[in-house]
Amino acid sequence: MAATPSPEELEAMLLKAIPRFRWTAEDAVKGLDLKGKTIIVTGATSGIGIPTATALARTGCNLTITARDPAKGAAALESIQKESGNPEVKVSALDMCSYESVKAFAKEWGERPIDVLLHNAGVMAIPYTMTADKEEQQMQVNFHSVVLLTELLLPRLTDSARVCVVSSVAHRRCATLETPFMELFEKYAFQGIEKEGYDKWVAYYVAKSAIIMYCNHLNAELTQKGSKIRVNSCHPGGIRTGLQDSLTKEEMISYGWMDKDGNVSPVFKTVEQGASTSTWVSVSAEMEGIGGTYSENCAVTAKDDFGTGDLLSRVKGTAPHVWVESDCAKVSESARAHLKDKGLL
Ligand SMILES: NC(=O)c1ccc[n+]([C@@H]2O[C@H](COP(=O)([O-])OP(=O)(O)OC[C@H]3O[C@@H](n4cnc5c(N)ncnc54)[C@H](OP(=O)(O)O)[C@@H]3O)[C@@H](O)[C@H]2O)c1
Repeated sequence: MAATPSPEELEAMLLKAIPRFRWTAEDAVKGLDLKGKTIIVTGATSGIGIPTATALARTGCNLTITARDPAKGAAALESIQKESGNPEVKVSALDMCSYESVKAFAKEWGERPIDVLLHNAGVMAIPYTMTADKEEQQMQVNFHSVVLLTELLLPRLTDSARVCVVSSVAHRRCATLETPFMELFEKYAFQGIEKEGYDKWVAYYVAKSAIIMYCNHLNAELTQKGSKIRVNSCHPGGIRTGLQDSLTKEEMISYGWMDKDGNVSPVFKTVEQGASTSTWVSVSAEMEGIGGTYSENCAVTAKDDFGTGDLLSRVKGTAPHVWVESDCAKVSESARAHLKDKGLL
């Protein structure tokens, strides 16, 4: 039997297979001068959002971060301005659990042009919660509100703007479930799933799949119309953040994310490293003109590599269902119809 690799050997294997695995958001913006560009980053009040916003602010752009909690927003703003030395950072209120709040943000934004819209806010595997808008909360925060905010801000996007959504590698789990994705999507997104049928992980997998599909379809639509706006999605890596706060230590250990002493997995990233891929997708020269893709580790993944194998192969590729164009169109059209029915679009 082969000996278990030491932490140093594992790290060397990782970096050999994935050279950008340890890139940080600072690596992603190296050499970029984005003075005059306007960037929005949602959910930049904790986790990977803060280093994402800080690295972007260092490029000299006009940055707006969003916060659902005013006190956290003020603290994040102070830290980002101080660390980046950029006074042109602002904070706006946005609660993705509330369609009114999404609409209010877009209204307050007014006519100002946007060069980058980076959807970072998200929740994961939370207990069953119906929002005041009568949506399952993971679906609303990770999917419906992302669609609504994007659609409302589309007219503000500049000619070659970029939209990036932080999704998750968890989307691939949909392809391992017995129930077909489209059936699960209907159930979680539109049929007001009830507590008895709710699975906190399935809700996350479905929402994160659906939002990749929306990005792919929107990019195709825009490209077909001759627009140079590009829409992409990505996975940031595994990072210990507030995202896992609703999980127990036992669950974290059972997933291999933590050992019994509370040490996180050696293949987790720091928050600065977790901020790299979405930053890279949003502003790097390498992603200029590229759309309809899903990235991990600061590289676009191969569409057809589901990667059910070992650790290293599992960090490549994406689940097949997110690339079925007719399903991407169906997901996007039904989400828009749902928002229209609610009088939001
Ligand atoms: N960490 C990972 O391992 C991992 C893996 C895959 C994907 N992701 C994705 O990466 C993104 C960032 O996650 P993170 O790890 O940095 O988690 P985090 O530390 O929990 O940060 C999530 C951010 O989203 C905000 N947010 C949550 N609910 C919101 C709502 N209703 N309205 C507006 N903002 C809301 C949070 O605000 P508060 O500060 O007020 O809580 C926070 O700013 C998420 O989309 C997540 O799904 C993370």
